[in-house]
Amino acid sequence: MSNTITDISSSINWDEIRNDFTVLNQSINGKPLVYLDNGASSQMPLSVSDRIDAYHKNEHANVHRGIHSLSQKATDAYEATRSIVRDFINAGSLEEVIFTTGTTDSINLVAQCYGRKFFQEGDEIIVSEMEHHANIVPWQMIAEERGATLKVIPMTDSGELDMDAYSSMLSDKTKMVAVVHISNVLGTVNPVEQIIKEAHKRDIPVLVDGAQAVPHSQVDVQALDTDFYTFSAHKMCGPTGFGVLYGKKDLLNNMPPYRGGGDMIDKVTFEKTTWNDLPFKFEAGTPPISAGVGFAAAIQYLSKIGMDNIAAREAELLLYATKAMSSIERLKIIGTAKNKASVISFLLDGIHPTDAGTILDQEGIAVRTGHHCAQPIMQHYDIPGTLRASISFYNNEEDIDRLVEGIKTVKEFFG
Ligand code: ALA
Repeated sequence: MSNTITDISSSINWDEIRNDFTVLNQSINGKPLVYLDNGASSQMPLSVSDRIDAYHKNEHANVHRGIHSLSQKATDAYEATRSIVRDFINAGSLEEVIFTTGTTDSINLVAQCYGRKFFQEGDEIIVSEMEHHANIVPWQMIAEERGATLKVIPMTDSGELDMDAYSSMLSDKTKMVAVVHISNVLGTVNPVEQIIKEAHKRDIPVLVDGAQAVPHSQVDVQALDTDFYTFSAHKMCGPTGFGVLYGKKDLLNNMPPYRGGGDMIDKVTFEKTTWNDLPFKFEAGTPPISAGVGFAAAIQYLSKIGMDNIAAREAELLLYATKAMSSIERLKIIGTAKNKASVISFLLDGIHPTDAGTILDQEGIAVRTGHHCAQPIMQHYDIPGTLRASISFYNNEEDIDRLVEGIKTVKEFFG
C-alpha cells in the first residue's frame, strides 16, 4: 500500500508546485519562512489570487439580482462554483450545496435550523471528545435552548474514538451525531463511515465536520452517506470567509431558513413571507462573491494535482516528520492514532508551548501553539496546550529539517 502511495506522489514535480505559493518566498525575522500552520489556514497559489483579482477587475456586480449583463456574468462565475463543489465532493445535486462563510457557520446553521425544529426536552446530541469548539458550542447553545443534553464519545490516550462507547451511547433519545472527520489537533482520521452506519440503523442524522479532511483527501459525501458535511475554503488554498454545508435534500427541505433577508425569499408581504427553493433558502443577503469565485479556482488547482497525490505526498511528509521528531529527546507527540493525517502536535518537556513557539518564530518557523480551539482535548491530557506543525503538500523535507533544527534551538535556549 505505502509503495503505491509513494509511486503516485513521486510522479509529481512538488518543487514546481511549491513555486506557485509565492508567499513562501520571504524571510521572517531574518530567516527563510517555514510555514507549518496549514491547519489554521493554508496558503493561496497564484492561480487563485489571480482569479480573484481578474474577477474584481472585469466581472464584479451583485449576483442573482440584475437583468444587466455584468450581473449575469458575476452570477455565472459564482454559480459555476456550486457545480465545481458538487462534483468535487460528489453531492447528488446543486440544491444540496449551501454556501456559508465557513465550517463554523455551516455547523451553526444545522444546529439552529435542524435543532430548533426537531430537538425536544430530554433529547441527546452526541459529539466526541476531540471536537473543535465549532462542533461543540453550537450544539451546546441549541441544547440549552431546547432542553436537550450533549453526550460525549470518549477517546483513548492515543487519540482514537472509543467506538464501543459510541455504540452504547446511541439510543432513542439521540437526535443528532456530530463528529469531526480529521482532528485539527491530533490528526486522527476518524472512522466516520462506521459512525454514520451505526447512527443510521436508528435513523439518526449525522453531521461530519470535514474542515481538516477535504483539503487533504478525496471526500465523497454520497459514498459516506453522511447527512451533513461541512468545510471551509481557506484551509484548501482558497480565500477566507467562504465555506460549504452539504446536506441531504430531504433534510434541508424540512428545515426552516437560517437568516432572513434578500435572496432567501420567494414572496414577501407584511402578512406572510414564503421561502426560496434550495439552495438559496439558506443564503440570505449578498454573498462573498469574489471569495466564491476564488474557491472554484482553488478546487480546480487541487483537482489538477489530484487529491490522491496530495494525500500521498502529505503521508510521506508525515512519516518523515514523525521519524525525525521521535528521535528528539524530551519531545512528546500528542496524538498517535494508527490512521493519521499530516498534523503533529507535540510538547517539549519543561518548556511552555507559547515560549517554544516564540523561539521558533524567531527562527522563521510558523507553527500554532495553544489549545487549538479544542480545549476538551487539552483537558483529556491535562496540558495547557501543544505546539502543532500542520503540513501541506507544498511543504518539503527541508521544512521538516528546519523545524527539527528549530526545536533543538528552543531546547538549547531553555537549557
Ligand atoms: N481550526 C483552525 C486550526 O486548527 C483554526 O488552527
